[in-house]
Formats: sequence, C-alpha cells, structure tokens
Amino acid sequence: MRIVVERSGPLAGTVEVPGAKNSVLKLMAATLLAEGEYRLTNVPDITDVPVMCELLGAMGVRCERPSPHELVIRNSGDVTPVAPFHLVDRIRASVNVLGPLLARLGRAQIGMPGGDDFGSRPIDLHVAGLSAMGAQFALGPEDVRAVAPRLRGAEILLRFPSVGATENLLTAAVLARGTTVIDNAAREPEIGDLCAMLASMGASIEGVGTDRLVVTGAEPGSLRAADHEVVADRVQAATYVAAVATCGGDVEVRGARPEHMEMLLNRFAEMGVAIEPTGGGLRASCGQRLRSIDFATLPYPGIATDYKPLLVGMLAVADGTGIATENLYPGRFRYVDELAKMGADVRIDGHHAVVRGVERLCGAEVSAPDIRAGAALVVAGLAAEGRTSIDQVHHIDRGYDDLVGRLRAIGASVSREPTDR
Ligand code: EPU
Repeated sequence: MRIVVERSGPLAGTVEVPGAKNSVLKLMAATLLAEGEYRLTNVPDITDVPVMCELLGAMGVRCERPSPHELVIRNSGDVTPVAPFHLVDRIRASVNVLGPLLARLGRAQIGMPGGDDFGSRPIDLHVAGLSAMGAQFALGPEDVRAVAPRLRGAEILLRFPSVGATENLLTAAVLARGTTVIDNAAREPEIGDLCAMLASMGASIEGVGTDRLVVTGAEPGSLRAADHEVVADRVQAATYVAAVATCGGDVEVRGARPEHMEMLLNRFAEMGVAIEPTGGGLRASCGQRLRSIDFATLPYPGIATDYKPLLVGMLAVADGTGIATENLYPGRFRYVDELAKMGADVRIDGHHAVVRGVERLCGAEVSAPDIRAGAALVVAGLAAEGRTSIDQVHHIDRGYDDLVGRLRAIGASVSREPTDR
C-alpha cells in the first residue's frame, strides 16, 4: 500500500482523536499482573494492537476485539512467562511484559525488543532497576532471562527518565514486598494512564504525574482485573494540528487533551497557529505562512521526540530558518532525506537539523522510515505542489488509526492505493 497526497487546504471540520498507542500497549502488558477479565475502551485501531494480542496469546492470555475500539482480555492465571522473539522483535512495547511477569510469576524470558529503527534502544535502565528489586538476569544475544522469587521494594534513581523503564519498574513494584521509590521517573501522560489503571486494579501509587513515584507493593494475588478507557493520543492529535498549520484551515480536534500537549501547543502558537481549548478538545486554525522557531526534544513535559518530524515538516515551509535539536535518539533524522526529495532545505549537523523554509514543497515519491516520520511526510505532502506518494505505509499503520480517513474528513486530498497500481 501507499498513501497518495495532493496539495490541500484550507482544512475544515472536526476530527476525533483515537486512544494512544503508547498507552494501550502498556495497559495490555499490565493485564499479566492479575487474573480476571479486563475491558479496554478507546483502543486505537492500529496494527501494533493485534501484535500485542498475539504476544499475550502466546503466553496464555486471551484477547478479543468485540469492536475495533474495544478489547476484552482474559487472564485465567495459566500464564507461560515466555515471550517469543518473533513477536517481541516487532514492537518495542513488548519489553513491558518483563515487569509484570517477574512480579507475578517470578520469572520471564523475552526476546530482545524491536520497534522502530532509529538508533540503539538499550534496556539497561530496566535491567538495573529490576536488579535493584532482587531480580537476577542472564542477557543473551537474542533474549533476556530473569528470575526473582519475590521482588522487594527498592529506591531507584533513573539516570534518564526512560518511559519504558519507568513503566516496567512500576508494574514490577505494584507486587513487590515493601515500598519502591522511582526517582527521576518519566512523567508522560501515558504513564499517568497506566498508573490510573493500576490504581483501579488495587495498586497503591503516590506521586502520579511527578518525577518521584512511590509504590507500596500489594500481596501477590491481591490485585484484580479492571476496565479502563485509553487516554487520547497526543501525537495523533498533534498530527491534525500540524496538518492545519501546514495547509491552513480551522479544525476542531475533538478528544485532544491540551493539558498533555502544553509545551507543543505553545510552540505551535509561536509559529502562528491559533489554538483554543474547547470543552472536549481543542480548535486549531491558521491562515498565514508559519514563522520558524528553534526547538529541542526533551522528556515530558518537553517537546516529545515523536513530534519532531511534524515540526521539521512545518519548518520546511515556514518563513525563516529554524533549528531542530534531537536529544533522545541521535539516529532519528533519516526522514530528512525524504523531505529533501520534496524540495525541503534541511542540513543535518550532529543532532541538529537546520531547516531553511521554502515557499513551496513539490510532490515526490518518498518512503516512510518509521511511524512518526511517515505521518509527517503525509502532512508535508498536503502543502506540496502536485502529487506526493508515500510508501512503506505499514509503519504509519502501526500507530495511526485511519490517518487517511480522518484527513479526508477535514477536506484533505489523500487516499490509499495498492503499490502495484
Ligand atoms: N534508554 C537507555 N536505556 C534504557 C532505556 C532507554 O539508554 O534502558 C535511552 C534510549 O536509548 C533513548 C532514551 O533513553 O535514547 C529514551 O528511551 P525511553 O525508554 O524513554 O523510550 P521508550 O520507552 O523506548 C517510548 C515510546 C517512543 C518514544 C519514547 C520517548 C513506546 C512504545 N515508545 O519509547 O515512541 O519516542 O518513549 O518519548 O512507548 C513511537 O511511538 O513512535 C515511539 C518511538
């Protein structure tokens, strides 16, 4: 499949924001902690969800999809703590089964996690934190094996506020003996969402939303299944705002949580996008050429690395020169070559991208290197003269719930086509 985009705008109407990939996959992993039936709602219809279902299924936990945006997960207690490499290798979030398996079953064997290819993505912080809680690890080239008869509470100071490490330590700590303190914890809204579901399951977590999480472990078997509504996806929401920014218009992004995107929305406003919170989301409008800004990616509440390709695409057509600095993944600039095919003037210097705005991009045949960069190429295509064709769409489908349908609904000229046409 490929996505074909024609110059569009102004955009108008309403777009509904789906649930967050980077929350739902972690909530699914957390169902390993307690027996029973879970019902997750506002589940995004993205391809990473069935992969996670398959992974849970391989361990004995059954997932059903009564509707595209709902998941029923049944943990009968008969769980095999082995996550096969061929599944783990497909999504990074599969590493999140480590904490729950160790906490609930005292052992885990998982293939080395995969996900997007934009540089080395180690799990040393996960391993160090779980080791401090008493787990013993054997790290092989293809898998990680760990045992821990009963995890114990520990004081853990993360060298870096890693999202995945914070989540794994949280889901381990909820069943550990005693109290665990996670300092310099990641504060992303998806972690708050995980804490909310863990609390509904009976876990005791203080400091939610801060960089110091204090978890009082429950007795094994004392947590229970819960129902939960997945938090709205701030990156998908940002994508629709970026689309309005790039080709003009006035759109309500319903379900967006402006309080989860504050820093980004401030920067959008500096670039000339009018943002207004509404009761149930936000309204974005733009009627002029964007102004360039400099920005740097940082852990939450900073500008997320996942927003960066969108912002670089906006800078590509903005008035002036902007510098984008990547502080999380040094290799996450590969899509810049694709933007250059569309006429963008971007120079990479170490972990900086210097973007000189051009009046107009031109349509080209480009390829999506990963989820976020792929979506950014689609958005850039909306501002390009002529036809832009984006292939490797399967990357976009991992994290975007009907990007094409949603953009079409607000007036964009975009469609999916089989690649052999
Ligand atoms: N890091 C370490 N050691 C670790 C863990 C992380 O050095 O043990 C480093 C990483 O190498 C990286 C940085 O810390 O340089 C950030 O990693 P983090 O652990 O915070 O990220 P993650 O949990 O692997 C999640 C999202 C990513 C998102 C990042 C940062 C999921 C499944 N993935 O990854 O999302 O970019 O947080 O916000 O939640 C995406 O959705 O497209 C995506 C890549």
